[in-house]
Amino acid sequence: MTLQAELDARYTAATPEELDARIAEVRARLGSRLVILGHHYQCDEVVRHADYLGDSFKLARQATRHPEAEYIVFCGVHFMAESADVLTPEHQTVLLLRPSSAGCPMADMANIDQLEIAWEELTAIHGPDSYVPITYMNSSAAIKAFCGRHGGTVCTSSNARTVYRWALEQEKRIIFLPDQHLGRNVGFEMGIPLDQMVLWNPLVIADDNLPRGVADAKVVLWQGHCSVHGRFTPEHVDQVRERIPGVRVIAHPECSFEVVQKSDEHGSTEHIIKAVSESPAGSKWAIGTEIHLVHRLASENPDKTVVSLSGIACLCSTMYRIDPPHLLWCLESIEAGAPRNIIKVDAETAHWARVALDKMLELA
Ligand code: 13P
Ligand code: SF4
Repeated sequence: MTLQAELDARYTAATPEELDARIAEVRARLGSRLVILGHHYQCDEVVRHADYLGDSFKLARQATRHPEAEYIVFCGVHFMAESADVLTPEHQTVLLLRPSSAGCPMADMANIDQLEIAWEELTAIHGPDSYVPITYMNSSAAIKAFCGRHGGTVCTSSNARTVYRWALEQEKRIIFLPDQHLGRNVGFEMGIPLDQMVLWNPLVIADDNLPRGVADAKVVLWQGHCSVHGRFTPEHVDQVRERIPGVRVIAHPECSFEVVQKSDEHGSTEHIIKAVSESPAGSKWAIGTEIHLVHRLASENPDKTVVSLSGIACLCSTMYRIDPPHLLWCLESIEAGAPRNIIKVDAETAHWARVALDKMLELA
């Protein structure tokens, strides 16, 4: 990966209208050689240029459905572009607009060395074939590859229940990473009591410091979290109910267990969009997820009240680093025959990460 230089005035001094027009022109010239994928947390100025808007699961699927495109430009964060590279054949090139700064802090909370240590410690207690590893999509290709190599898989917030069910049917213990909240919320929904889900702190070398209750635990949850969704609190739920009588609270499962339990419903990004869009006029919603999505839902549903669950803006700052100047710069680099910011996973890692991702796509 090469570090990206600051953009020059041709990009930074352009007006929003100029940027839109120039992006549209390059796109038209590139035609079907290019597919642009945009995540729901991206700002409107970016998503208006996306061929597909979706959550991480939907975008991973779309990446596999355009063999004619030489280039897939990902408007999202690093782990999403890596997954697109893993899922697409050699002749397709995946580009991320700002690879050095558009990462996911939650994905960075699990690295492969930490996982190797945890695996060694846990299988030493319970036996070599005792665990199935499940990683959330928000993780590096190396973590996904580990799961593929050890008979595990990947999940997203929209298929986590299906994946959990598959793992439980094998009558093994689960190690779930890196989001403790998604792991706990879905595990609880699947009937696993809280005291059978223990927390693994990857920053502590285990030895004598194993989590209490690990011997009887069904699930080992990695101690990772999303700081954006972590900003929603149970008090926010009480406050919004008081402020907006009749409001329905809906939370993403990356929110804490307490927030999810107090909400009226919870679900993936796509679930939230569907629930709000299909509700009758006059419905009132308080949404526990990233602010760009909440604002988009509010403007697409003018006949409903749609507010953030929190009074403070819960913004994913790494998603926000993707902007129209970088999109234009990236598209121009393709047109000039020198594409920049290519995301390429090495062949060995890609092979095993693909095993894990294919299993997920097969299950979902
Ligand atoms: P989705 O799986 O809903 O796209 O979520 C990705 C993400 O980063 C949520 O914080
Ligand atoms: Fe990562 Fe949270 Fe941002 Fe999603 S919202 S990309 S989990 S930091």
